[in-house]
Amino acid sequence: MAQETSRNVGPVVLLGAPGAGKGTQAKRIVARYSIPQISTGDLLRDHVARATDLGRIAKDIMARGELVPDDLTYDMVAQRLRQVDCEPGFVLDGFPRTAPQAGWLDAFLENEFFDNSKRGKCLPVVIQINVNYNELLHRLAGRRTCPTCGRIYNVHLQSPRVADTCDVDGSRLIIRDDDRCEVVEARLKAYELQTKPVADYYWSRGRLLTANGDLPVDEVTAQIFRAIENHAAGSGKS
Ligand code: AP5
Repeated sequence: MAQETSRNVGPVVLLGAPGAGKGTQAKRIVARYSIPQISTGDLLRDHVARATDLGRIAKDIMARGELVPDDLTYDMVAQRLRQVDCEPGFVLDGFPRTAPQAGWLDAFLENEFFDNSKRGKCLPVVIQINVNYNELLHRLAGRRTCPTCGRIYNVHLQSPRVADTCDVDGSRLIIRDDDRCEVVEARLKAYELQTKPVADYYWSRGRLLTANGDLPVDEVTAQIFRAIENHAAGSGKS
C-alpha cells in the first residue's frame, strides 16, 4: 500500500465484533496516513503485562471475555490521545465499545482535543466492519500474533511464510489467551449486548459508515480508505 503523507485525515474510529479485522485494518491505515493506532485491547494487555493497578483489575475481566468497566478506560484513553503524535489524527481500534464510551469520546474531542488538533474540528469518521458470525469464529480460531511487532496472521487465511514465525522479525507467533473457544463465546456475547449500541449511537447521529468485512483483506482496506478520503475531503468537517 502506498503511503499518503500529503494530508491529515483526522480521527478514525473502527467498530466491529471480535475478529472483524479492526487491528488488521488499523495497521494499514497507520501505514498509509502516518497516524498512530490506539488499540485499547493492546493498551490493556500492556497494563496486564506490567502488572499496574489497572492491569491487575483488568486481567481477570479480560480472561473471562468481559469488558473492563467504562470508567477504568477513560484516563487510559485520554492520556494516549493527549500525546503529540495524535494531533494530526489517530485510528481508534476497540474504543468506544459501549454507548457511554461513545458519549465520553465525543465530549473529550469537543472539550479538549479539537483545540490542540492540527486539523481543528474534524469529527471522527466512524466505520463499522461487518462480518458474519461463523467467519468470526473461524478467524479467531486461526489468529496468531507477533509478540514483538504486533503483526497479525491467520493460519487459515493469512499464514506466515514459515509456520509459527513472524515474517518481519522472526519472533515465534503466539495465540492470544482470550482466543480460547469458551472466552470467544463470552466476547461475542459482550459485543452483542454492550457494543452493538455504539453503532446505534453513531447511526442515530447520521455518522455511521459500514464496510463489508467478509471480503478479502485488500478489498476491505479499499472500502475503508475510500470512506476516510471522502470524509477528509469535506463531508465530516464542521
Ligand atoms: P481487543 O484487543 O480490542 O479485542 P477485540 O475487539 O475482541 O478484537 P480482536 O482484536 O479480537 O479482533 P480484530 O477485530 O482486531 O481482528 P483482527 O484484525 O485481529 O479487546 C480485548 C479485550 O480487552 C476485550 O475483550 C475487553 O476485555 C478489553 N477491552 C478492550 N477495549 C475495551 C474497551 N474500550 N472497554 C472495555 N474493555 C475493553 O483479525 C482477526 C483474524 O482474522 C486475524 O487472524 C486476521 O489475520 C484475520 N482477518 C482479518 N481480516 C480478514 C479478512 N478480511 N479476511 C480474512 N481474514 C481476515
